[in-house]
Amino acid sequence: MLKMSEAVERLGTEGAFEVLAKVKELEAKGKKIIHFQIGEPDFDTPENIKEAAYRALKEGQTHYSHSLGIWELRSSVASYYKRHYDVNVDPEEVVIGVGGKSLILITILALIDKGDEVICPNPSYPAYQSILSYVGANIKFLPLRESKGFSFDIEELKSLVSNKTKLVIINNPQNPTGGIIPKEDLMELAKLSEKYGFFVFSDEIYDRIVYDGKFDSYIELAKNDRTIILNGFSKTYAMTGWRLGWVIVPRFLVPVYQKLAINVYSCPPTFPQYGAIEALNGPQDSVDMMVKEFKKRRDFVFEKINEIKNLSMVKPKGAFYAFVNISKTGLSSKQFFEKLLYEYDVAVLSGSAFGKYGEGYIRISYATSMENLSEGIGRIKKMVESL
Ligand SMILES: Cc1ncc(COP(=O)(O)O)c(C=O)c1O
Repeated sequence: MLKMSEAVERLGTEGAFEVLAKVKELEAKGKKIIHFQIGEPDFDTPENIKEAAYRALKEGQTHYSHSLGIWELRSSVASYYKRHYDVNVDPEEVVIGVGGKSLILITILALIDKGDEVICPNPSYPAYQSILSYVGANIKFLPLRESKGFSFDIEELKSLVSNKTKLVIINNPQNPTGGIIPKEDLMELAKLSEKYGFFVFSDEIYDRIVYDGKFDSYIELAKNDRTIILNGFSKTYAMTGWRLGWVIVPRFLVPVYQKLAINVYSCPPTFPQYGAIEALNGPQDSVDMMVKEFKKRRDFVFEKINEIKNLSMVKPKGAFYAFVNISKTGLSSKQFFEKLLYEYDVAVLSGSAFGKYGEGYIRISYATSMENLSEGIGRIKKMVESL
């Protein structure tokens, strides 16, 4: 009998893609499904970015590029940190990858051996837990608490860290909760990292999608040999299909990232990187417009969900997700998700798809039109009232 590796059996998957496959099946049968499961902006990539990529394509930028990304893009990322956070980043410390996701894999492969202790937020983006399990990490979950606006309790973090901690992962602003970690807690984390000598991997892919003032990046507080920052083009510039992301890494780790990149994908795609340079350096009004629209939708979802008996949500501070508390309905997250999809034609994600502390919640992505939001929340109301 042929057998797969044991490691691959430990690999998880991602709810959004699994649900999309189910939705496509239902749609093929003629159902009209409202999509609240999507994790990508419903806007098109801005024209100036597309134009820059077309130009590069026409000029023959169709071959392999440097495995860490083209220099001009690495420099543009470095300038981004000066502009937005007043932090000096050397382009040598920038690694461009195939989407932020490839760099989650590479970071974990670079740092973690079997049995190493890693603190991972829960609920959280499924790739962290999946890849950590794949490499056999000893995962300690850090619960995100609704009572803390879906940040963690700093005392809980303190009780988990020790000399054995190799890595702490944070995601800020968060998927799936829309929560933001307060600056004081980031400062405490930086102190703990110094005391115990662990790496901090801060996934800041939603750093520009914030609604209530300036975002505090971890890089502003602790740019040192233990800090790795992840970001990318997918969310801010509606470029999910371009597959480009970046990390800022300590210089001594760059050759390790390079070796892993060469082994996994050789280099990030070449002509899209020219579009990405334009994304960072060109006009930013499309980002401002998108965030303004998301904010309107966030306020709408917040108001309408809280009007429904037995449902509640805290106001998201960033990203484009509402994490709705459904625990008073008497249904599990999965039951709620299934009933809503198969009986009311609305696709959301079950909170439990993001880890055990996501039980009792569903995730609604409001990266969809006001019209869809109104119709979909209406159907959710009808379902909850029927219970
Ligand atoms: C928290 C978080 N990190 C990373 C990613 C990866 O995005 P990409 O690979 O498109 O850059 C996502 C995508 O949904 C995300 O939500």
